Amino acid sequence: MHKRLQAYLEYYREELQKAYKSYFNKLEIPGNLKESMLYSLDAGGKRLRPILLFASYEVYGEDVQKAMSSAVALEMIHTYSLIHDDLPAMDNDDYRRGMLTNHKKFDEATAILAGDALLTYSFELILNDPSLTSDEKVTLTKELTACSGPKGMVGGQILDMEAEKQSVSLEAMEKIHTLKTGELIRFAIFAGAYLANATDKQLHYLEKYAYYLGLIFQVQDDILDVSGEEEKLGKRVGSDELNEKSTYPKLLGLDGAIAQKEKYVQKAYENLKLADAEDSLLKALTDYFSERDH
Ligand code: IPE
Ligand code: IPE
Ligand code: MG
Ligand code: MG
Ligand code: MG
Repeated sequence: MHKRLQAYLEYYREELQKAYKSYFNKLEIPGNLKESMLYSLDAGGKRLRPILLFASYEVYGEDVQKAMSSAVALEMIHTYSLIHDDLPAMDNDDYRRGMLTNHKKFDEATAILAGDALLTYSFELILNDPSLTSDEKVTLTKELTACSGPKGMVGGQILDMEAEKQSVSLEAMEKIHTLKTGELIRFAIFAGAYLANATDKQLHYLEKYAYYLGLIFQVQDDILDVSGEEEKLGKRVGSDELNEKSTYPKLLGLDGAIAQKEKYVQKAYENLKLADAEDSLLKALTDYFSERDH
């Protein structure tokens, strides 16, 4: 991996860790709920969405602290989505981030509530952030609810479930992946650039960039579910086949999925350039999203 990118990832993982710890230190809530929320947050995901948000901020602005509450909120919503995604009623997985899934460690009811709590607490963080103006708070929460709710991630998760045991078109796959995964990635790119006062034109092209980046990310996730290593991934390989999911490798074959991903990468580059961000870390992150092995 690119040395500068490696250092960047490490630095921002630390910053994010410090920030969410401070939000939880102050939080007086039932002990078991707190333990369950922190169990999944501490399990150590790659933190790619908050890092993307910071990288997007840094293209256009400086003091990244202004983006911290949005970054933590986003990672909390992503973590909630994974806790629920792993439940027996959904993908029924036992391992996540190299550890037992939340419902295996605690129980199903606690896992459901930990997810609910991570989702709702995320909005509180943004709304209580003294470094944001009222307008910024409204815009950020409006975007975050849209990206995570029925028009975003949750909508995508239901389409994903409905596409089990079905054969779907490439167009339908793009829709599922864009909603279930792409929308939270779109929020990362939008929130960073918006808080750093990017222009409307830059935001327009970044939105298109984020669309392709979301697809790249989930196509690689599908590829790794077929050909990745369980130890590196920290989650079970072959889960999609077991659940008869509609995925890119199933639709196009492994080579076809890789070729399709490459097309999305080229589209992502084009839009990054139009957003005046082709020399930024977003470019290196695009490559990393496409080539990652975990
Ligand atoms: C996994 O996301 C779920 C998908 C949307 C494909 P990540 O691969 O970013 O998971 P963590 O956060 O690193 O565990
Ligand atoms: C998960 O997609 C997407 C969300 C959680 C919103 P997957 O079901 O493919 O994610 P993994 O493979 O379990 O991480
Ligand atoms: Mg799933
Ligand atoms: Mg899953
Ligand atoms: Mg997957």
